[in-house]
Amino acid sequence: MQKRIFNIEANDPVARDTFRIVLRTDGDVSVRSGQFVDIALPGFYLRRPISVSDRLPDGVVLYYKVVGEGTRAMAAMRPGAQLELLLPLGSGFHPERCREAALLVGGGLGAAPLYLLAKELLAAGKAATAVLGFNRADEICLTEEFRALGVPVLIATLDGSVGTKGFVTDAIAAAQPTFDRFYSCGPLPMMKAVCAALDAPGEVSLEERMGCGAGFCYGCSVQTRGGARRVCADGPVFDKEEVLW
Ligand SMILES: Cc1cc2nc3c(=O)[nH]c(=O)nc-3n(C[C@H](O)[C@H](O)[C@H](O)COP(=O)(O)OP(=O)(O)OC[C@H]3O[C@@H](n4cnc5c(N)ncnc54)[C@H](O)[C@@H]3O)c2cc1C
Ligand code: FES
Repeated sequence: MQKRIFNIEANDPVARDTFRIVLRTDGDVSVRSGQFVDIALPGFYLRRPISVSDRLPDGVVLYYKVVGEGTRAMAAMRPGAQLELLLPLGSGFHPERCREAALLVGGGLGAAPLYLLAKELLAAGKAATAVLGFNRADEICLTEEFRALGVPVLIATLDGSVGTKGFVTDAIAAAQPTFDRFYSCGPLPMMKAVCAALDAPGEVSLEERMGCGAGFCYGCSVQTRGGARRVCADGPVFDKEEVLW
């Protein structure tokens, strides 16, 4: 884990209340899909954890939703400004555990870390299909980025404005994609439903409010079948069997 200064190269709105930020630093950046960065924002005591959506040779790409004061302050930052990041944090997804074909199931900005996972799977010669769920059309993002990789994308919207009307599980039931392992990131009820519906091994990325973000304070502990685990250090990615819903 390192503390490093990054320059903001771009910080643009891409969907309703949603921003894509490109951050570059001096030297190589080493980070895997499912890992996150913890961002120090000027004037805020606690860092804000954000998943890595893409890795650049000298940087990272993140997607974030404006939900409170910290993310609002981040959205106001302009290219050329600097941010201090702790990275890489947490365990990543395990693309090597997929035999041939993966199903990537994202809810909202849960799509973001699945994008880097898709790149890792494709680089290892495996296939991937993405199923992405959103509340409404103006929240949709990242779908064209997945398609540009050659990854088929199924969309579900709660209001039915795009794709299947309903949940990601409805889109999966309708399309019946072939896969031997699934990976999911998004709201807890969505991941619970996905784990219940899919008869295959899978991994989920959990979210908790964080203190230190680095394994010291136990503020992000969740109960799992293996006992109390820290989302920041033991996770955020867990096997589906480990999670006590
Ligand atoms: C491992 C991890 C990865 C994450 N990746 C992303 C990402 O890729 N993109 C993204 O937009 N967000 C992500 N988040 C959530 C993000 O950290 C919070 O939205 C952010 O810290 C909120 O900061 P704020 O100051 O704007 O809001 P605050 O003022 O701190 O909170 C505003 C609202 O958001 C809720 N909230 C804040 N933090 C969390 C959290 N960690 N989990 C659930 N609810 C929270 C609060 O309960 C409150 O209702 C991730 C969180 C974790 C733990
Ligand atoms: S946030 Fe401190 S241990 Fe996870």
